[in-house]
Amino acid sequence: QGRIYQAGVFGRRPAVPTEPVALEVAAHRAMSPQAWSYVAGGAGQQRTVAANVAAFARRRIVPRMFVDVAERDLGVDLGRIAGGRRWPVPLALAPIGVLEMAHPQAEHAVARAAAATGVPMVLSTQASVPMEQVVPSLGSTPRWFQLYWSRDEDVVASFLTRAEAIGAEAIVVTLDTHLLGWRTHDLDLAYLPFARAEGIAQYTSDPVFRRLVDKRPPSSEPTPRPTLAAVRALVSMARHYPGPLLANLRSSRPRAAVETFLDVFSRSDLTWDDLARLREMTSLPILVKGLQHRDDARLALEHGVDGIVVSNHGGRQVDNAVASLDALPGIAEEVAGRVPVLFDSGVRSGADVAVALALGADAVLIGRPYVYGLALAGEAGVRTVLESIIAELDLTLALSGVARVQDLTADLLDG
Ligand code: FNR
Repeated sequence: QGRIYQAGVFGRRPAVPTEPVALEVAAHRAMSPQAWSYVAGGAGQQRTVAANVAAFARRRIVPRMFVDVAERDLGVDLGRIAGGRRWPVPLALAPIGVLEMAHPQAEHAVARAAAATGVPMVLSTQASVPMEQVVPSLGSTPRWFQLYWSRDEDVVASFLTRAEAIGAEAIVVTLDTHLLGWRTHDLDLAYLPFARAEGIAQYTSDPVFRRLVDKRPPSSEPTPRPTLAAVRALVSMARHYPGPLLANLRSSRPRAAVETFLDVFSRSDLTWDDLARLREMTSLPILVKGLQHRDDARLALEHGVDGIVVSNHGGRQVDNAVASLDALPGIAEEVAGRVPVLFDSGVRSGADVAVALALGADAVLIGRPYVYGLALAGEAGVRTVLESIIAELDLTLALSGVARVQDLTADLLDG
């Protein structure tokens, strides 16, 4: 907080806007239409994207006065899922795929910002940079690995082995994206970020996945001639970031990696009983991400998960789905402290973080805002976004008469 205020006093503006809507507007201007649509967009009529944010606007804090808050503690203990290490702030970076669309330094820049702020990073299955290459920038910052449960379980096993080798403290299995949602904005632009000829590096760097690509018989269908719209989309992307265009031009085996990815990326036949198999594949704690129904929280506990992430994937999967914040209190009540409950979808500010913590989250994942920071100013942009959220959280606590994050309860909220 001090740093951002002091810079302001001396006439230096922060690297990216601190006001969340201004940040979004600036990122919209800077990003290609395709990258913007992929990052900002959601499912269908974008109702749940809007509802996630609106749910925060409905909650009100009732500050308390004359409380000694001179010493404040933002740290949290999440136990086993954090490898027993205390997190300095109740935040982590949400897993976000294909970050190279926002900035060529992608996960490298994000990891450096994570290390600079101490905010743990959740590495995505769909990362643009293989996890092994992100680790040097992370230093000793905590890291989790997010898993999309592939149709090929050798690929799952390989990802888990790699995650263990890079020192991940936990695995986050995302349950809400066994199929890609109805992403209207991407559909209308005829654009899928996964359609790069060379594929997503997290996969293509994986030895088991590579073997699948090599074994794949050449497609009997001729490669379709690119449509004018596809060429326009590539050129428009290339103005912002030439990587995808160059990759598509260079690729010697067009489509094989992408087709293999689409074959194996995920599957829809899994049920709670399959979790036992995952348990046998790794000794790491397992969190499930994407829960919205309190009965699912009960089932998750019955099946021995080590943590829950309340999330609706930022409104990208089921349009008209309930706002994630409205799902949080019921799940927190069901879990009743037996395992940590994390939260995401719609968090835009430090005040939002305080509200989610008050409604029962033990920690909160930051999603789109850090991608906007990345798109605008690389590492410095992500760092500014995180520092702003931390600064505002600290001030919100202090000015509301709360000294420690674990003392944030629903009592602080109006109604
Ligand atoms: C995501 N999210 C996501 N989740 C996940 O488990 N694996 C992934 O690879 C991705 N990829 C991804 C890409 C983009 C561009 C976005 C915006 C989101 C979901 C993410 O982890 C988180 O749940 C949401 O971002 C939370 O919503 P808000 O706060 O960003 O609106």
